[in-house]
Amino acid sequence: MQRKKIVLPESEIPRQWYNIMADMPTPLEPPLHPGTGEPAGPDDLSPIFPMNLIEQEVSTKRWIDIPEEILEKYLIWRPTPLYRAYNLEKHLKTPARIYYKNEGVSPAGSHKPNTAIAQAYYNKEAGTRRITTETGAGQWGSALSMCCSFFGLECKVFMVKISYNQKPYRRLMMETWGATCTASPSTETQAGRSILEKNPDSPGSLGMAISEAVEAAVGDEYTKYSLGSVLNHVMLHQTINGLETQKQLEMAGDYPDVVIGCAGGGSNFAGNCLPFVRDKIHGKEIDIIGVEPSSCPTMSRGPFAYDFGDTVQMTPLMPMHTLGHDFVPAPIHAGGLRYHGMAPILSQLLLDKLIRAENINQLETFQAGITFARTEGFISAPECNHAVAMTIREALKAREEGKEKTILCNWSGHGLVDMAAYEAYLSGQLSDQPLPEEEITRALEAIAPLPKPRQYIG
Ligand SMILES: Cc1ncc(COP(=O)(O)O)c(C=O)c1O
Repeated sequence: MQRKKIVLPESEIPRQWYNIMADMPTPLEPPLHPGTGEPAGPDDLSPIFPMNLIEQEVSTKRWIDIPEEILEKYLIWRPTPLYRAYNLEKHLKTPARIYYKNEGVSPAGSHKPNTAIAQAYYNKEAGTRRITTETGAGQWGSALSMCCSFFGLECKVFMVKISYNQKPYRRLMMETWGATCTASPSTETQAGRSILEKNPDSPGSLGMAISEAVEAAVGDEYTKYSLGSVLNHVMLHQTINGLETQKQLEMAGDYPDVVIGCAGGGSNFAGNCLPFVRDKIHGKEIDIIGVEPSSCPTMSRGPFAYDFGDTVQMTPLMPMHTLGHDFVPAPIHAGGLRYHGMAPILSQLLLDKLIRAENINQLETFQAGITFARTEGFISAPECNHAVAMTIREALKAREEGKEKTILCNWSGHGLVDMAAYEAYLSGQLSDQPLPEEEITRALEAIAPLPKPRQYIG
């Protein structure tokens, strides 16, 4: 009988995270203070984050031990299974071997708890009592709500308004785990009020929700802010995924030619691919592809520049691919991919040609999700459908070329709370909304007055 699932025993769970900052050929340029434009040091970040996470943010130590308390919680759903997609392969008549790493088995339904557990733990250790955050589609907000409840912390989530209205079950998950969830922009913060004054019907964006969550954290020494993607320490925590995958592929006697993940702020893609990027730095030949929506093509079309992480310019400036901090993306259903910036680590790896970026239209991603559901069974989150669509493209290319390659797809989460999006697709209500070229001009205008990184690409 063929082996469908490659299951790593609990005793084999990785005990350290991998920090790519130790191996990057080009080190990152520092974040800059939003007011002065000077490099931001640990003290500048301390009103928002606890010092133990700031230390991880700037660390260049290659391996970082995972505390026992975090490992204990990881064991609720980790190690996650690696699947061989025999049914999809057969359906596509491809000679490629397709594997997918199923991060949808976590209680919250995605990869997000990999860092939420760590962030809740380190905040608790540092004396934090309350955490604020933003969420797009609700995967991050629900993951953090669960993890705060594990460590007895209060959790306040600002959820992008359009998703808040589209996905009431995500809000209910957050409330079940004890968190408070508010639609953003809201009247609870100065940032929210100023946005609503200009546009009372604003659908919200991740950049706006971040502004609200940061504002709600600063000024109270027991409240900190938490970000579910983009930052270096988030990428670090997510590497448990790729490290497990490497052990599982070794068990299967295989190694990937292609590694694929969808990219919003970059955390699931980074988590799976960074250990493979390390191999690539050491000489392996691998095609590592981050997949974005055509309506929010941050890595594939955005300039590389210093930009704010939020709309009202409160966060430090980060060197990254960006569509501009004032970007309001089209209301596609992959809410978690509607972010204007990309993780500085991935942005730099893209400049160094260690990874590459593609973007795909919404309808192709849903078609891929349907094919995946009807062959492998699992219903993917709309974000994750971007990775599935790219995997199908690569498998069909292997068929045309008659090549037996190995494709690894990071399956970042299930879509069981996203069925309204499937309903819209199945009833023909969805459309493609590729980003118009004028939006790139607007992005360049938004970043024009800001300092430029050494490798600026406009
Ligand atoms: C299932 C799923 N995949 C991917 C993403 C994109 O985020 P990131 O790029 O940080 O992994 C999200 C974000 O909400 C998500 O929920």
